[in-house]
Amino acid sequence: MTTNFDQIVDRSGTGAIKYIRRKALFGREDVIPLWVADMEFRSPEPVIEALHQRSNHGVFGYTLPGDDYFETIREWQASHHNWEVDREWMSFVPGVVPTIGLALEIFSEPGKDILVHAPVYTPFFDVPQKLDRQVVFSNLKLEKGKYHMDLDDLRTKLKENIDVFILSNPHNPGGRVWSKDELKELASIAAENNVLVISDEIHADLVLNDYRHIPFATVSEEAAMNSITLISPTKTFNIAGLSAATAIVPNSEIREKLNHRMHALHLFRGNIMAYEAARAAYQHGEAWRKELISYLEENHRIVHAFFKENLPEIIPMEAEASFLVWIEFSQTGLPPEDVRERLICEAGLGLSPGKAFGPGGEYYQRMNIGIPRQLLLHALEKIKHAFNSLEVK
Ligand SMILES: Cc1ncc(COP(=O)(O)O)c(C=O)c1O
Repeated sequence: MTTNFDQIVDRSGTGAIKYIRRKALFGREDVIPLWVADMEFRSPEPVIEALHQRSNHGVFGYTLPGDDYFETIREWQASHHNWEVDREWMSFVPGVVPTIGLALEIFSEPGKDILVHAPVYTPFFDVPQKLDRQVVFSNLKLEKGKYHMDLDDLRTKLKENIDVFILSNPHNPGGRVWSKDELKELASIAAENNVLVISDEIHADLVLNDYRHIPFATVSEEAAMNSITLISPTKTFNIAGLSAATAIVPNSEIREKLNHRMHALHLFRGNIMAYEAARAAYQHGEAWRKELISYLEENHRIVHAFFKENLPEIIPMEAEASFLVWIEFSQTGLPPEDVRERLICEAGLGLSPGKAFGPGGEYYQRMNIGIPRQLLLHALEKIKHAFNSLEVK
């Protein structure tokens, strides 16, 4: 391994959200922040070098990403996800969540509802609600310790008053990489009911072990024709502060409506550094990404072994992708507020509370393990200390 992921980087004074919002969210400045989904690692050297090069140029006028930028993304999707994407299907967008919001404003009528899985990444229901849309949840089914789509429930609910379904593919917070059968069935039910699917694939390049990400739009012609896919290098290469994403929309009618609104609001203009970082990441970041995946796999293995051995009543879900662990505390017999109190006050850790991910999340906490190993081991020891007085139910 040539990258030193064990290096501790001091982020104080950088305005990092996960640090500066600690007092507001946890009531204390000193918790170790394991909540916001960015990692504690330096980005790949080629990305940092590309930013240096560009800043050395010294002129930072209005700039567009250019065809070579999209060619890089086209090649990445083809080589990594077996998806042949036409140049014209792609548009630069300033972020995944802002584009979900914008798409909802275009493609969902006030008075119609938005369907999302539960539990799920908070903005999937929070953004629609803030845009005055009602949200309907389809609860995920827990089978053999992993989430699965409840296709019967989707079949029933998609017939109702729904015009958009937002999919986290792979799933945050459960880390599930959806199967082709699940995606295909979802595509078929959505198309039958004229429901647009927004597939958020921001975690797609962080798939672990031998799992394989399947882009939603590749599972069938109806999936391609009835979807907006949002991809981004920001999670994988730890460049979320630069805000770069791509909307991929094979259906020209949907694409034109989205692009029209992007242009109306001048959101097609990204920032120079985002283009440089994203291009360098896709072109030269692969070796780093592979090392990252190995490091994360080992972090996941350590977490599972740790709980099994020390606190078997606390059960982490096996993640098939990404650097987040969804941990169930219901077997501790403690109410969620007590779990939280122990994590914050006794362990000194700031995890994301499960209830923030909607129904079904109440007895869980989400822990970000995209961190140096030494910090991970320290956090686990702290959890052991905070929960070792447990009497199993
Ligand atoms: C599933 C998912 N989508 C989107 C985002 C954020 O995307 P962006 O920063 O491009 O808005 C996150 C960040 O945690 C995420 O987990």
